[in-house]
Amino acid sequence: MNDDGGVRVAIRAPRAADAAPYAEAVRRSADHIGRWNPVEPDGLTELLERQGQGLRTFLIEDTASGGLVGKCNVANIVMGRFCNAALGYDSYLPFAGTGRMTEGMQLVVDRCFAPVERGGLGLHRLEINVQPDNVRSIALARRLGFRHEGFTPRMLFLSGAWRDHERFALTAEEWAPPGP
Ligand SMILES: CC(C)(COP(=O)(O)OP(=O)(O)OC[C@H]1O[C@@H](n2cnc3c(N)ncnc32)[C@H](O)[C@@H]1OP(=O)(O)O)[C@@H](O)C(=O)NCCC(=O)NCCS
Repeated sequence: MNDDGGVRVAIRAPRAADAAPYAEAVRRSADHIGRWNPVEPDGLTELLERQGQGLRTFLIEDTASGGLVGKCNVANIVMGRFCNAALGYDSYLPFAGTGRMTEGMQLVVDRCFAPVERGGLGLHRLEINVQPDNVRSIALARRLGFRHEGFTPRMLFLSGAWRDHERFALTAEEWAPPGP
């Protein structure tokens, strides 16, 4: 937060002009991302092509400098009676560990639960799936208010193997929007 208690970040959809700063941010942060998520510095163009009903990406920006704080993919979006999605995210240096990613994720969650008529995604339930020893990601999920739901063995193929995940979730009824 700012000294005046305001939020230090904003969220927005990625665009083609972000490809170069995105690549620099991911390269700079490869050491801390690489243990948990694929490092794809040149992946923004493909990610833009994949945006649609099942996937919405948000970039988190530092409002003071315009620098890239992080990225969140709202993936596997299924509407109908489920209205569910899974969140996947990375934070970038030099902003990682400053609390800005948490602030940005609060905005993303809020946008996910907001009704479509108000520019939101109209979702009802969000999941975060985390490898059991990814302490920083589990801390982020808990700071956002996600509940631990269970353990999913061999859930995702990452770094050459099927990895177990802890499953966290939050429904719209449980969400307390970030206050002023
Ligand atoms: C998981 C990940 C996104 C978490 O992001 P982050 O950089 O830790 O998030 P923040 O910027 O909100 O920083 C939070 C940390 O800063 C600290 N912090 C410093 N100043 C702060 C402030 N003003 N407000 C809040 N927290 C602050 C917090 O205490 C917290 O540290 P802690 O978890 O040790 O308590 C990041 O570690 C990452 O990209 N990891 C690699 C990829 C990954 O694992 N993705 C998720 C796969 S499931």
